[in-house]
Amino acid sequence: MSEVQWIYAPWKIKHKIFILIFLPFVFWLSWYSNGGNSWTSSLPFSCKLHYDHARRDGSYLDHLLEIRLPRMNYSQPETMNLLRTDVAVLTPWFAPIIWDGTFNIDILNHQFKQRDVRIGLVIFAIKKYVVFLQLFLETAETFFMVGYKVNYYILTDRPKDVPNVTLAEGRRVVVLKIPSHARWQDVCLNRMEIISVFTKQQFIHEVDYLVSADIDMRFSDHVGVEILSDTFGTLHPGFYRAKRQHFTFERRPASQAYIAVDEGDFYYAAGFYGGTVDEVYKLANQCHNGIMTDKANSIEAVWHEESHLNKYFLNHKPTKILSPEYLWDNGMGVPEVLRKRRFVAVPKNHAEIRN
Ligand code: GAL
Ligand code: MN
Repeated sequence: MSEVQWIYAPWKIKHKIFILIFLPFVFWLSWYSNGGNSWTSSLPFSCKLHYDHARRDGSYLDHLLEIRLPRMNYSQPETMNLLRTDVAVLTPWFAPIIWDGTFNIDILNHQFKQRDVRIGLVIFAIKKYVVFLQLFLETAETFFMVGYKVNYYILTDRPKDVPNVTLAEGRRVVVLKIPSHARWQDVCLNRMEIISVFTKQQFIHEVDYLVSADIDMRFSDHVGVEILSDTFGTLHPGFYRAKRQHFTFERRPASQAYIAVDEGDFYYAAGFYGGTVDEVYKLANQCHNGIMTDKANSIEAVWHEESHLNKYFLNHKPTKILSPEYLWDNGMGVPEVLRKRRFVAVPKNHAEIRN
């Protein structure tokens, strides 16, 4: 016999040891790590199977919540006519763009009510910004998620200045004390870290969705469950018609928020965004990491946490987009496409209020 034939010789003693002792051990280990359950699939996937096993025990299927709509009266959805002919209502990744006239709130309310969703509205009231709280909360009680369980998470350095506003049943104010920063830019940058920390520690136990909103605003028309989705961002009122090269993204490659001129879908406003608690945690955490890396590199993104939010939404497309109805500034007039102004900036003296 030539040497070559010995390469695959199973009768050679070394191979016998492998087959008789080591291989059974590998099988036993795989079976053991599969939770000691019978073989349901091929060996290499046993680790994944271990995770899937809880779901494979199909008992949970019998306990899923049924969302069942009652008999309802509404006009038939159109297949050959557009809901809106003046604006886009869908992105190329099939996220709806929410404009007035595109949704039936009765259908949505039936669905979300049966899920008994709880919404956390996160607002920062730092230093003089506490003056905006009264109007914000009063108008939110009139227009924001009416009929739903809402927690107003007010993050403030001045808990004593939080006004007493009468709230509807199932809604409450939760005051969370946080330190302030000397620079308003740092207050903004810090929001992502605070949101991620409080989400992990508290929000996750109390609500299903989180909405982060600027406080120097008032609600002036309906804002309801039509906004809720895994993640949602709002078209900035100053850029919803603009070409991407004119967006005020961070343009310095040294920043983690950098976006090239030939990239970008929309310019999203940091004044109104949100999603499920899980998704907002991921978003806030990742933006915070970008902000910290920037800080270590002595660079601060041009529009602070808004720049990082835009970078995040470029790489993780939001599942819903809100039109500028959901964040408007009356200083920009009232274009015809804007049938409703739901959440509007309260005029302020920037220099006076920021410092
Ligand atoms: C301004 C707004 C800023 C920032 C900026 C982005 O209109 O006040 O907060 O969003 O646009 O260019
Ligand atoms: Mn603002």
